[in-house]
Amino acid sequence: MLLSKIFWLTLLARPLQTSTASLLRSVSADSPDAGREQVRLSTGWRFWRSENIPDGIIYERRSDASNESLLELKPWILPMGNAFINDPEDWHDQPDSNLDIDIEYTRSGFDDSGWENVTIPHDWAIRLPFLTGSRPVIPTSMGNLPVHGVGWYRKQLDLSAEDARKKIYLDVDGAMAYPMVWVNGQLAGGWPFGYNSFRVDITPHIKTGESNILAIRAENPAGRFSRWYPGAGLYRNVWLTKVSPVHVAHWGTFISSREVSDASAVVDLSVTVENRAESNAEVLVLTEVFEFNTQSQNIGRSVAKFEPAKLEISATDGKASFNGSVTIRGPHLWGPPPAHQPNLYAAVTRVYQGKRLVDEYETKFGIRSLEFHPDNGLLVNGQKVYLQGVNQHHDLGPLGAAFNMRAARRQLEMLRDLGANAIRMSHNPPAPELLELTDEMGFLVINEIFDSWEESKTPLDYSLIFQDWREPDLRAFIRRDRNHPSVIVWSYGNEVKEQSSDDERAAEIAIYLRNICHAEDPTRPTSTSMHFSSPNMTLPTTQDVISLNYQGEGMRYGPAYEHITGGNHKTPQYQAYHDAFPGKLIMGSEVASSLSTRGAFLFPVTPYNSAPVNDSYGGNSKTREISAYELYTADAGSSADRIFLTQDEKPFVSGGFVWTGWDYLGEPYKYSSLHTGGWGIIDLAGFKKERFWLYQSRWRPDLKLAHIIPHWNWPGREGEVTPVHVFSAADEAELFLNGQSQGRLKKGTEEYRFRWDDVKYEPGELYVQTYKGGSEWAADKVQTTLEAYSLHLSADRGHVASDGDDLVFVTMEVVDAEGKVVPKSNNTAIFSVSGPGEIVATTNGNPGDFTAFTSLERRAFNGLALAIVRSYAGASGELKVRATSEGLQGTEISIEV
Ligand SMILES: *[C@@H]1O[C@H](CO)[C@@H](O)[C@H](O)[C@H]1NC(C)=O
Ligand SMILES: *[C@@H]1O[C@H](CO)[C@@H](O)[C@H](O)[C@H]1NC(C)=O
Ligand SMILES: *[C@@H]1O[C@H](CO)[C@@H](O)[C@H](O)[C@H]1NC(C)=O
Ligand SMILES: *[C@@H]1O[C@H](CO)[C@@H](O)[C@H](O)[C@H]1NC(C)=O
Ligand SMILES: *[C@@H]1O[C@H](CO)[C@@H](O)[C@H](O)[C@H]1NC(C)=O
Ligand SMILES: *[C@@H]1O[C@H](CO)[C@@H](O)[C@H](O)[C@H]1NC(C)=O
Repeated sequence: MLLSKIFWLTLLARPLQTSTASLLRSVSADSPDAGREQVRLSTGWRFWRSENIPDGIIYERRSDASNESLLELKPWILPMGNAFINDPEDWHDQPDSNLDIDIEYTRSGFDDSGWENVTIPHDWAIRLPFLTGSRPVIPTSMGNLPVHGVGWYRKQLDLSAEDARKKIYLDVDGAMAYPMVWVNGQLAGGWPFGYNSFRVDITPHIKTGESNILAIRAENPAGRFSRWYPGAGLYRNVWLTKVSPVHVAHWGTFISSREVSDASAVVDLSVTVENRAESNAEVLVLTEVFEFNTQSQNIGRSVAKFEPAKLEISATDGKASFNGSVTIRGPHLWGPPPAHQPNLYAAVTRVYQGKRLVDEYETKFGIRSLEFHPDNGLLVNGQKVYLQGVNQHHDLGPLGAAFNMRAARRQLEMLRDLGANAIRMSHNPPAPELLELTDEMGFLVINEIFDSWEESKTPLDYSLIFQDWREPDLRAFIRRDRNHPSVIVWSYGNEVKEQSSDDERAAEIAIYLRNICHAEDPTRPTSTSMHFSSPNMTLPTTQDVISLNYQGEGMRYGPAYEHITGGNHKTPQYQAYHDAFPGKLIMGSEVASSLSTRGAFLFPVTPYNSAPVNDSYGGNSKTREISAYELYTADAGSSADRIFLTQDEKPFVSGGFVWTGWDYLGEPYKYSSLHTGGWGIIDLAGFKKERFWLYQSRWRPDLKLAHIIPHWNWPGREGEVTPVHVFSAADEAELFLNGQSQGRLKKGTEEYRFRWDDVKYEPGELYVQTYKGGSEWAADKVQTTLEAYSLHLSADRGHVASDGDDLVFVTMEVVDAEGKVVPKSNNTAIFSVSGPGEIVATTNGNPGDFTAFTSLERRAFNGLALAIVRSYAGASGELKVRATSEGLQGTEISIEV
């Protein structure tokens, strides 16, 4: 039964530089059973949503849905977790009785012609108007959009007669929430946690050679179940995976590297093969490693192959694993730019039954070493990499939670431009594609799964299902993501309540979760982020690395914070943790929590380097703006300047993750009635807040940059003190107002910006010349503008792919007759498009603007607005995007489809 050596060599002799997909196709042609087929189920869906429970079922009765006559489906769903529960004693039995319920939406005869046509990923709430009324069922903390209710999705699946020989799986990357899957009227499975990916075997329910009805139900509680905007429905991709009965198991490979140097590296591989056929199988497993070109998405040169392995796998549900190692000479290591390059490899695993190739499975990975050093911080491939990180939520602003590759890539591109090299996935598993992007672009990732354990933060959150699902959720999460080189730390908790209520219980749970992480992946450290725990408590003793939220630099700490009573006060804790845990690396998993509204400047300006926002300093509760002088914070937060200072004082700290990189939906802080908290360095539209240049000057110190704030349109402030600050990596700077020097400043050792706090306003021009090491560095100027005169449009790219997914982001500026953006302008623009495409959303980044994201009429906010444009699938030609506004000259731009 063994494959001949000659056949193996023939396979290796296949032309290089072909994509794996085409390799797969060419092999499958010779052998009809070979290979897996993965089909994205994006189009052809019908959708309907009810604000109530229209079908008499629920996963489990909750306080918002306690109707006794609802049928609980939990007993039928729980066994889905068994594949991720280690001890068979803990497995859930399938109920003896069949599920006795007939739901018309799941039947093939049901007439869904009145339902909406949608494409997946889909977020049913984001295109609807914001909720109104004083106590909306979904509050502003959750984004104020109607995520609640039950959504049904239906799609016809046509399976050929040939598919009868295959196992057919439905792979759902994430659905919010409590997704349950029906096929031809029968319940096939489900997975309550809305952020995790799961697989349902639909083989027993399908009819091959004819059409089948797939129906997926998602449900969100009517009430507080999240601390932020969660999204609603099938918000990530859904796939149909067809494989022969003997195949590489779900997430069945694990690849890691050790003994890594420029000269060589050892790559360890484990492959699990599953036999779902009627008879025992003897298979040969061959895995070959190729270079992977991320630009072309092609595999390249073959660099190694693992010893062929023979596995015997018992019938119907047997599994067998192969473990092997190879040494790769001169490996192209993976690491974050600019010091490293994110080089990737692809391991192609082929499974043969006799001479038949029955499966081919590709695993992308990177070769890199990580060292978590208590004094030197993080070392990647032996070199120190300071964590210049940001936290990111899963939503994509005006596109909601619906995953979109281009929108996600745009977020990362801007973060790269900022100088960020690390991302914490706060606080739940991301879309799988996002980790492909972080692999390809070279971001370091803290991958996080839970925001609450046993104790709830909101009444209807994950704590309801923690007991039943903690093990399967955590194991599934790690198995899905452990091959990504970008992932460096697993985080199994964020600011859990147990820290303050029951430290011993917190430690017990942490050990339980940590041990699961270690069992699933012995190569990475684990952590949970602590804002409350102290170094003398038990929870920190359970941590592989210490992740501190805010307490490292102190909370409600410093001269401008002294008046605050109540809340959790902390003096800076980095040193205390370092002393208590001298062997552990420390990072700031959340730092800053500073706040600002793009383009809004308020007076007076605090004399301090960090101050809590209030109505005397930094805030205005009437306009709900927070000053973009970038010195103001949440009560427990610190400005960027103060974080930099603490980091310079405590060089053993490995770096920090700013709360947050981009604005996200929900979690308003100082003022209610905002749809975003405004924590981001970049606003919800993707416009840079003033802080962007402050971080950039710190994180990319070689960039010749000088950036003046504020803008210089202050009619009515003539003669009044109007401070001018400049962000730059320079060490000296001279500011001129209408040619008059305002003084040449040297940056002090504890300073991260230049401040001229006594400048008196007069209209005209501000000009700054900076110097570094005595030589000219960078200059900037800001001028008082004329009246708003016209609109100006620019696109992030001049072309858009017609794949139905790709997007173009069009920025609108309100400009004066000389083309300068008019700072406070708020003219209303009307967007339109001609040609083969549509505007899918507009926004302006204003946290207080509750105009629906689908509106084509959008007021500029401090001079700017955004329209997001998509071309129709399969279309070609020219798209013209137009913006008009009463009293201003309109404009248009073209985009090539
Ligand atoms: C309880 O649920 C049943 C079945 O869905 C429904 O017929 C009934 O109207 C519900 N009762 C209340 C009080 O909502
Ligand atoms: C949905 O799409 C179908 C074609 O697949 C079309 O016939 C139908 O009119 C569409 N329904 C709506 C509501 O647009
Ligand atoms: C094979 O590798 C897996 C994953 O690292 C590990 O869990 C397992 O113990 C290994 N098995 C053997 C026999 O070494
Ligand atoms: C731990 O330290 C804090 C202050 O850092 C102190 O208030 C508390 O009493 C200490 N707890 C124990 C158990 O020593
Ligand atoms: C506002 O903050 C400042 C410090 O920046 C503080 O002195 C002042 O007391 C605060 N005002 C109020 C009303 O809390
Ligand atoms: C628009 O700007 C003008 C001039 O600054 C201001 O008077 C008006 O209140 C603004 N309108 C809105 C809705 O913000």
